[in-house]
Amino acid sequence: MTSSTSTSPFAPTQDELKALVGRAALQYVDPGSIVGVGTGSTVNKFIDALAGVKERIRGAVSSSEASTARLRALGIAVFDANEVDALAVYIDGADEIDARGYMIKGGGAALTREKIVAAMASRFICIADASKQVEVLGRYPLPVEVIPMAARQIARRFAALGGEARLRLQGDEPLVTDNGQHLLDVHGLHIEAPLAFESEVNQWPGVVTVGVFARQKATLCLLGTAQGVQTLRYD
Ligand code: 5RP
Repeated sequence: MTSSTSTSPFAPTQDELKALVGRAALQYVDPGSIVGVGTGSTVNKFIDALAGVKERIRGAVSSSEASTARLRALGIAVFDANEVDALAVYIDGADEIDARGYMIKGGGAALTREKIVAAMASRFICIADASKQVEVLGRYPLPVEVIPMAARQIARRFAALGGEARLRLQGDEPLVTDNGQHLLDVHGLHIEAPLAFESEVNQWPGVVTVGVFARQKATLCLLGTAQGVQTLRYD
C-alpha cells in the first residue's frame, strides 16, 4: 500500500470527513462516463457532489433503491446494470477496510447489488473516514444476505467458525433487502484470509452474498482524516 495526504487546517466532524471524501471522489469521474454508485451515508455525500457535475456525465448504475432514489431526485440518470457493459469506476463506502484494500460491506443492507456493480468496474474507489481502517476484518459484524429458509443452517455454520449470527431486524420484523431476502450479521469473526473466507462462505447453500469484498477489493481508498484526504493505493 502507498499513501499520500492533502492537508487541511480544520478539525472536521465525521460528517464533514464523509463530505470531504465524497467531493474528493469526483476527480475519478471521467467526463461523459456512467459511474458505478454505492450506498450509504458517505456515498450520499458523493451523490450530492456528483449532482454539481451532472451535466458532464451520462449517468449512474446504482447499487440500491435508496441510492437510485437520491440520484434521480437530483436529476442524475440511472441506468439498469443490464444496459451497461462495463464501468470505469465504482465509488462506494465501507464498514471496514484493511491494509490490503479488503473490505467488509453491507451495513446499509445493499451488499449484493454493491458486489454486482463493483464487478462491472475496472476500479473500486473506496471513500471512508479513518474510523473504518482495521488491521484484521471482523470487528464490524459481517453482513451476509441469505435465502430466509437457510438462515438457521447458515447460522450454525458460522457458529462452528466461532461467529454468532444474528438476524437483522427492522422494528420487530426481519429486515427485507432490495432483493427480497434476509440478512445475518455475524459477530465475533476474525477474518485473517479474506479471499479464502469469501470463496468458502459463498458456496454455502442459501448464501446470496457474503459481505467480505476481497475479490472486489478496493483499488484505492480516499480516507478522510483530521489532516485531510489521504489516498491509499493497493497493489
Ligand atoms: C452499504 C455499505 C456501506 O458502504 C457501508 O455500510 C458504509 O456506510 P457509511 O458510508 O454510511 O458508513 O456497505 O451496504
